[in-house]
Amino acid sequence: MNAAIRAVTRCALAQDWDVLGVRRGYAGLVEGAVEPLTGRSASNIMQRGGTVLGSARCPEFETEDTRREALNRLQQNRVDALVVIGGNGSQAGALALAQMGVPVVGVASTIDNDLAGSEVTIGVDTALNIALEAIDRLKTTASSHQRAFLIEVMGRKCGYLALMAGIAGGAEIVIIPERETSPEEIAGRLRTAYERGKKHALAVVAEGAHYNAEGLNAWFREHSERTGFDLRTTTLGHVQRGGTPTAFDRLLATRLGAGAVAALARGEHGVLVGLNQGQVTTTPLIQVVGVQKMIDPELFRLASVLE
Ligand code: F6P
Repeated sequence: MNAAIRAVTRCALAQDWDVLGVRRGYAGLVEGAVEPLTGRSASNIMQRGGTVLGSARCPEFETEDTRREALNRLQQNRVDALVVIGGNGSQAGALALAQMGVPVVGVASTIDNDLAGSEVTIGVDTALNIALEAIDRLKTTASSHQRAFLIEVMGRKCGYLALMAGIAGGAEIVIIPERETSPEEIAGRLRTAYERGKKHALAVVAEGAHYNAEGLNAWFREHSERTGFDLRTTTLGHVQRGGTPTAFDRLLATRLGAGAVAALARGEHGVLVGLNQGQVTTTPLIQVVGVQKMIDPELFRLASVLE
């Protein structure tokens, strides 16, 4: 996100526009927590994870009153246009403000990759690489001790991160909300891995799956005599959201941030800036918010073949 903040700031300054940064997302906007951003304040931030402006969940923003307060704050600060960097919740807020007459441009950013309008979103690549590193490390113990391991990755209701981590990490099985798998089948697949002579058996599960790490832990404990083996679970959690952003993410965020300013400069707003077929594109927010992004079934088929 910092690379996106930097690109928006510098590209807007290059247009001779003034730039204000909003602290802590919509929560900060409502409180009037805004401050000028300069070329210098955007310097040396690109290699840092997260956002220097801060972020916050703001459920109150779903109410009309709170949105009106935000609108007042924007008017008080004589803001002509707003760039919203974030995922589904942020873009729902962006659409609401657009419908109140604010020129808004969204920038697709979430590790979940569950936002329609962009094939890939800012943060996904970094989170995926962190998950992969964890999988590679777990394989060491899994092989040495001949144990079955299960690793849970984030992603809300979307299985993208788990599926990609499973494919790239060589998992025996991937469990995602879009394709539920019974614990019996998971146990069967892990057992088959040993029977085929593998030294380790590793499953990747998405947090949003019906049987996630917690559910599977309980199930394997209850049925350990029948399955004949223990399952060690690791929940990656917020570890995936930290660390140094990858080159891919820095470049993506830079291109999308610049794309947001370019859209505003040509008078285009009420859109999400995303990456599609390698190009920076804009999609009307109305076609993004509330739209479920589907996982390519071919990827799931590929994962099954490779398992
Ligand atoms: O949307 C990003 C995400 O990291 C999800 O993958 C996860 O479910 C959620 O946010 C966690 O939210 P919080 O940090 O508010 O607990």
